[in-house]
This record gives sequence, structure tokens and C-alpha cells, in this order.
Amino acid sequence: MRLIKMLKQFSLIAICFFATSIYIHAQDFMINIPERVQTSLNGKWEYIIDPVDVGIKKWKSLYKDVPNNKEHRSEYAFISSLTLNVPGDFNSQKPELKFYESTVWYKKVINIKKKKGKRLFLYFDAVNYLSDVFFNSEKIGSHEGGFTPFQFEITDSVKDGENSIILRVNNRRQKEGVPALGYDWVNYGGITRDVRLVETNETFIEDYFIQLKKGANKKIEGYIQLNGSKLSQKVSIKIPEAKISHTITTDNTGYAKISFDKKLKLWSPSNPKLYKVVIQSETDSIEEYIGFRTISTHGTKIILNGKPMFLKGVNFHEEASERKSRAYTKEDAKKHLTMAKELGCNFIRTAHYPQNEYVVRLAETMGFMLWEEIPVFQGINFNNKETIKLANRQLTEMLRRDKNRCAIIIWSVSNETYPSHTRTSVLKSLVDSCRVIDNTRLVSSAINKYKKKGEVFTIKDDLIDVLDVIGMNQYIGWYDGWPVAPEEIVWKSEYNKPLIISEFGAEALYGHHGTNNDASSWSEEFQEKFYRDQITMQKNIPFLGGTCPWTLIDFRSPLRLHPIYQDYWNRKGLLSEKGYRKKAWYVMREYYGSIN
Ligand code: GCU
Repeated sequence: MRLIKMLKQFSLIAICFFATSIYIHAQDFMINIPERVQTSLNGKWEYIIDPVDVGIKKWKSLYKDVPNNKEHRSEYAFISSLTLNVPGDFNSQKPELKFYESTVWYKKVINIKKKKGKRLFLYFDAVNYLSDVFFNSEKIGSHEGGFTPFQFEITDSVKDGENSIILRVNNRRQKEGVPALGYDWVNYGGITRDVRLVETNETFIEDYFIQLKKGANKKIEGYIQLNGSKLSQKVSIKIPEAKISHTITTDNTGYAKISFDKKLKLWSPSNPKLYKVVIQSETDSIEEYIGFRTISTHGTKIILNGKPMFLKGVNFHEEASERKSRAYTKEDAKKHLTMAKELGCNFIRTAHYPQNEYVVRLAETMGFMLWEEIPVFQGINFNNKETIKLANRQLTEMLRRDKNRCAIIIWSVSNETYPSHTRTSVLKSLVDSCRVIDNTRLVSSAINKYKKKGEVFTIKDDLIDVLDVIGMNQYIGWYDGWPVAPEEIVWKSEYNKPLIISEFGAEALYGHHGTNNDASSWSEEFQEKFYRDQITMQKNIPFLGGTCPWTLIDFRSPLRLHPIYQDYWNRKGLLSEKGYRKKAWYVMREYYGSIN
């Protein structure tokens, strides 16, 4: 008898342990979120700062949010006067959180009127870095990764009237994380993008991909995926302007392929043509604007719509520098993209992670091609299985959200990772995953290793075998010296593939002037000469398909410690944090203006 009792107790403990520690992944999120029926949950959320995570280790009932009363005293409380703005990182909202990297609890109470036949979801555009989500004091799931959306269905747990949402958000760097421990940007934590309560019909259009078939310029291909109980339905895809109405029938999993011929006006930076696409099933309909274009390489050329195209790029982080915070609004996106347009760019590398949808969608309407990448950044633990799974999940989430954004021409699987057999095989598997999900785009990665011998710089990395385009971050003239005059430098590549200089840059404090040949000068003149020298060198690279200064605008970084010239700013911007043009900006503007 006693043995049975012990076994029962053990199994109960085991169930409790697994119940709290099971990592409940977020489900596949629905795409095209801006067009969904929704209530914004942006605004003031109550918060509790929990630096040593006692909310899960000691006060295990914190998420149960049991009120204080005669029978129960809690050593924590959500109170209406202590709030954070959502969206928005918490670091920039409270001085005591400036470089905080641990847990903050968030709470919001929402009033919901349940509707028959409707389903409800909580949808988070992004939360950095790890989030546990509780709805009416029950854990509904977790998500790891700070730059991609996730959702949880709450249909069956919603009450008529008040419902509480509580999040535990932890932005502590994780050795096994993606990114891991070291990176050159502020680790802005919190609910950093929009939060939405989304309502759908019982069976709704969850996912779809509609784009020109790779290598074809009048064959439209893709798929539709329904979610719900009535999965086999007739679905029409309409493009009214092109007089297209194509009907398909989904199978019993809700899936159907799309394939039809039509010659459409192609999207390009000079003519960012988008078509209104209306998708109608028997129980749902959704629409969005989609551009159609072909992207490929031919030898060392990048080919857009059959024509070679030089990518006049620039990098920027998702940061509102004047607020010293994460950027998250459409206005923030418009500001950066307008600055890039003024610089003469047609291409943007959204470093080093998928940025919010405002940036991606606005870039498309403004005529920018995009390089989008997952934060597989430098010191990733490629020996850890969970890390590899996480990198794959973040890649899948990035492609799921943005595959219908024609502006994105390049998916990138990493930045400056340290070459090793394991690293290369993991990255090659990420490239494969990329192509399985979307074989219409180019795949790249930013590397930073090259062999130097005298004036010859040779590109060599086994990873390049599986890339369409080589991304090279090089800082000759800043971190590296000039072994010979810039015009004598010879870049060599054994790969018959286009090269993009995905990063190059030097620091200068805006308004600080000095000599142009003293690396410790931090002067605008030094940075200006750096750009002149770099352009001289880059003009001599016959296989160069594009270039991307690092960066458009000064950005915050805890690595940049010089109290006078940096003060936790990385000063490689062509613009100061207030948007003022440094001398180097004019050099780059003139260069881009000279390229047709
Ligand atoms: C690297 C890295 C960037 C970093 C830059 C720099 O290339 O990719 O994230 O900011 O160097 O040193 O400024």
C-alpha cells in the first residue's frame, strides 16, 4: 500500500514538474496580421520588476495574481499607477531599467464579449527575449526570440467580461540563445511591438504564399492554408486590376496549391507596383497588396526582372535614436526609410534581425529591396541542439511572416559566425530549410573572414558553396589597416557569385573635426577619408553586386565605452543620432548618385 502511495506521489510531482517546465511552443501564427479583425491591446500595462525571478521561483502564484486580503498576503502587486507603455522596450521607459537584463512582469485586464462562431487569439508582433503568457491565471504558452511574431488561441478560456493577461518577459542573454551573449546593440527588453486581440471565423485563411515562380515571369505559384473544422473549401484568388479570378479547392487538411499564368507589371525600386490580391474562401476573406518580381543571379550579377542591378544599400538597426529606444511605429519606419532614400539607396539590410512589419511593408511601397536576417550573430553555440532548433524556428517564423513581401530579395542565415565544421554544417542546414520554405529568393550570409597576403584579399569560406550571394563585412581602414593604397587592393573570389559588401564603416562624432589620417581622431574628416578610400577600393572589385555602409545612423551599444566620443553610442552612422549629416554622408550620396 505504502509503495503505491509513494508511486502516486512521485507521479504527481513528476506531472507538476513537467506541467510547469514544459515549453509550450506558440502555434503557427496567422499571416497578414494588419488586415485581420482585431482590437489593439497597445497602451498602459501594469508591471512588476523582478530582477531575480522570484515570481516563478518563490512567489509561484504571482501569475495567479491573487489579491491581497485578510487571508492572503502577497509580497508583490500589480497596481494601476505603475505602468509601462506597450509597445515599447522597458529599458528606455524607466531610468532604473537602462541596461536591465532580467524579468519584468506585465499585466492587462481586457473586457471581452464572446461571440458565437468566432475564435479569439492573442497575437504579439514581438517580445524580447523570452516570454511566458498567462491568460486568466493559466499558462497558455511561451515564446523564445525577440524579433518574430507569435500567437495563442484563447477561444475556450475567454470569459464574458474581464479577462487578465499576464506576461513574464525576460531579456537575459542566453549562452544557448539566438542571439547569444555578445552583440553590438542594446538588448532592449519587453513587449517591444504591437499586441492584438484577433477575432476570426471558425474556419479562416491562416497562411498563403503568392509569388512568381522562380525563373518564370508570368507563372504565379504558391499555396493556401485554412485553419478550422471546415477545411475542404472552394477558395478564389482575385487580382481585380489584372482581371484574375482563380479558383482552387483545399484538401481535407485545408491546403491547396496555386498555379496560374498571367503577365503582370513587375515590381521594381523605380516602379514599386503592388496589386490588390483578394483571397476568398467559403468562410473567410482577406486581402493585401502584393508585388510580383523575379530575382536571381547570373554569374557575379544580381538580376532583378531579368536586368542586372547594383544594390545601393545601407544598414540600420530597429532603433529610434532620438528616443534611445526600440523603434516600433510606422512613423519610426518612415523616418529611417526616408533617410535611406535621401542617401540614394535602393537596398536595405535590416540588421541583424527581422524588423517590425511597418519597416518591411513601407520599404516595399517606397521601392527598397531588402536583405532580412535572423540574429544568428557571432558567438552562437552551434553544438547545442536546442540552439539549432531555435535558429530554425526563428528562420521559419521570419519567412512565414514576410514571404509575401516582394521587397525582400535576400534571406540571410547569419552574421559573422566563427568558421568551424559544425558552424558550417548547421548554417548549410538553415540554408536548406530556407529554400524548402521559399525557393524564390536568394540566400546569403554575412561573413567577415578573408585571407590577406600583401595587397591581395581572398574570400574563402565553405559556407559560400551553398549561398547565392556572398555577404562580406570588412572594415579595412578602421579595424584593419590599409596594407597598400586603396587603389592597389585586389579582392579575389573563387566563387562565380555576386559579392555584397554587407558592412563597412568607421566612427566619427558629429561636429568633431580634426585630421583625416589619425584613427584616434574620431573626426568627421577621418570618416570622410575612410569612405573615399573604401569606394576607391570597392570600384575595383569586378564581382561586386552591391554595398552597404555600416550604418545609416549612430545607434546605442553597451560595447562603446569612450565617454567623450561614444558614451554608449556606436558612432559609425553616416548620420548623427539626431539625423545630422556627417561629411562622409555626402561622399556616399555622391557615389550612389553616380551609379545609374
Ligand atoms: C560587426 C557587426 C556589427 C557591429 C559592427 C561594428 O560587423 O556585424 O553588428 O556593430 O561590426 O563593429 O560596428
